Parts: sequence; C-alpha cells; structure tokens
Amino acid sequence: MKTAETGKDIERAAWLLRREEVVAIPTETVYGLAGNALSNRAVSEIYAVKNRPAFDPLIIHVFPAERISNWVKAVPEQALALADALMPGPLTLLLPKSDLVPDLTTSGSSLVAVRSPRHPMAQELLAMLDFPLAAPSANPFGYISPTTAEHVARQLGDKIPYILDGGPCEVGIESTIVGWDENSRPVLYRKGGIPVEEIERITGPLRVMPHSTSNPSAPGMLKSHYAPGVPLILGSIRELLDQHPGKRIGVLSFQSHFPQIPDEHQIALSPAGDLKEAARRLFSALRHLDALGIELIIAESLPETSLGTAINDRLRRAASKN
Ligand code: TXA
Ligand code: MG
Repeated sequence: MKTAETGKDIERAAWLLRREEVVAIPTETVYGLAGNALSNRAVSEIYAVKNRPAFDPLIIHVFPAERISNWVKAVPEQALALADALMPGPLTLLLPKSDLVPDLTTSGSSLVAVRSPRHPMAQELLAMLDFPLAAPSANPFGYISPTTAEHVARQLGDKIPYILDGGPCEVGIESTIVGWDENSRPVLYRKGGIPVEEIERITGPLRVMPHSTSNPSAPGMLKSHYAPGVPLILGSIRELLDQHPGKRIGVLSFQSHFPQIPDEHQIALSPAGDLKEAARRLFSALRHLDALGIELIIAESLPETSLGTAINDRLRRAASKN
C-alpha cells in the first residue's frame, strides 16, 4: 500500500512519471490520474488504480497543443480550426490514432482522444516530458470526478505515490469531446467545459452521440456515471420535498434557498445564477451532500443552455443510478 504525498513539486511528478508510475495531476477541468501514454505498464496501472474496465479508452494530454499532431494520423481542417480557437482548454478531439499510440491506451480503438490542458502546472509538467500523459479523471470508476487534491487523496490516496496540488479546478466539469463520423460530419461525444454553442460556431450543427452502456463507438458514455453513493432524484425541488416528508434530505439547487431544510443540508450552486460558478462547484457540492449521512439528494435541472447543458447531463447521470 502507498500513501500519496500531496504537494506542488512538478519535478517530483515528472521524475515519478518517467519511472512509469502513476501521479494525480491538476487540470482546469478535473484532476487526472496520469501516466506515460506510451507505456503499457503505466497505462495498466491507471486502469488498475481506477478499477476501470479495459474497454474504456483514455484521453492523452499534450502541451503545447501543436504536439497533438505527433499522436494522430491527420488533423482535419475542422479539428484544426477548433484547436486554434479553443486550445489549450477544456476540449478533447477524437481523431485517427498514430501507430505510436499503444492499443492499450485506446482500448483497441483506431481513434485516440487528445487534449491540451490550460492549467499552468499541467502545462509546465507536460512541457518537460518527452511523452504524452494518458489521464482519466482521478476517481474510482463510476464515481464523481475530483476537483481538488483532497478529493483525490480521500479516494485514491492509498494507491498512488504523489498528488500534484494545483488548487481547485477552474472549470469543474470534464472536457467537451468532439469527433467526426465516416462522412466527416462533427459529432459531440460528451458535453463538457466548452459549451456546445461555442463549438457549433466553428463546426456547424453537431450530432449528439446518445449515452449507452453498449455502444462500442462511445465506450465511456455510460448512462450511470458521476454517481454519488446516496440516491439522487432530479425534478422540482418544492414538489419532491412534499413527496418525501420525514426523510433526511439534502438539496442541490441552482440559486434558491429552502427555509424548511437545515442550511448545512442544502447547496445553491450559484445564488447569482452564474453557470460557470455552478459548474465549478458541482462536483464538490455532490461530494459534500453525499457525505452528510442523509437518505436522499433532491436536485433540480439548470437552464438548458451553455454550461447548463453539461451540468444537467451530469445530474441526469447521477440520478440514473437509482
Ligand atoms: O476533462 C477531461 O477530459 C478529464 C481531464 C483529466 O483531462 N479527463 C477525463 O477522462 O474526463 P475520462 O477517462 O474520465 O473520460 C474520457 C472519456 C471516456 O468517456 C472515454 O470513453 C472517452 O473519453 N474516450 C476516450 N478515448 C476514446 C476513444 N478512442 N473513443 C471513444 N471514446 C473515447
Ligand atoms: Mg471520468
């Protein structure tokens, strides 16, 4: 058993990664569980630590963004336009993989997911390595993604040697994933930190890949994901409170306060109605409510626009575990 040290020592993280060890790193979206993407040993260790099924491929991270071209067969014009406009940032592109990327990293897929993070510590680390980093979110498979070093330590601290602490994540939800179908039409694989509207301004209308537990072209789009341990119901908070009298309940709202619920059992994601703030606080809020020893989390959907769409996607998946 290991006990992860938490610190800001980028050199130490690089040293461990060069030795094919797995290290938690900050990104602007969520913390990642990083290893050398070209090393089967490091990648196997990532799957083992996360308890992640081997059919669910990993995103590879590079900096500067130009290094993406080293790991893919070609960058189509639309992908280049997206990269120019939005990278580094919370965007992942799904492109035909170069033979240099091991099959284990992409779970045998001929496509590889690539992104260039915006977090300065992740950038500094990636720039000093001569290999890209495979990094899924640093949570046990199926649970809520971590947005602080402490979230990582609590769940994976006994399985990894080091957690690079870059503070709370600025975006708070995972990257938006975009790919192209066999007719070169753009496809949205995951809603995330870059609003769909911003992508569509560059690509035109996106086809949305439905969630599935069996769709082989989107192995990670599992319906029940981002799930807290306590059951979560999504709907009108007022009505749901009436339907569950006498229960120990936690409330997750967008802006509202509910006087009938103790303050420490409710979180308003953004009293001012700011979707960015709501995204940043979402996973911490779910973790907080999950740890209260309550019976039920009652939550409401946010406006279905901009980052609200991605937040609602996470809430629906958290609810579909029930
Ligand atoms: O913001 C993020 O993207 C974070 C940070 C750490 O970079 N990473 C992240 O990774 O969310 P992960 O592994 O938790 O989610 C990656 C998703 C999975 O649903 C996976 O199935 C999908 O990307 N994916 C990766 N490679 C793929 C491929 N070749 N084909 C289809 N889906 C792929
Ligand atoms: Mg994940």
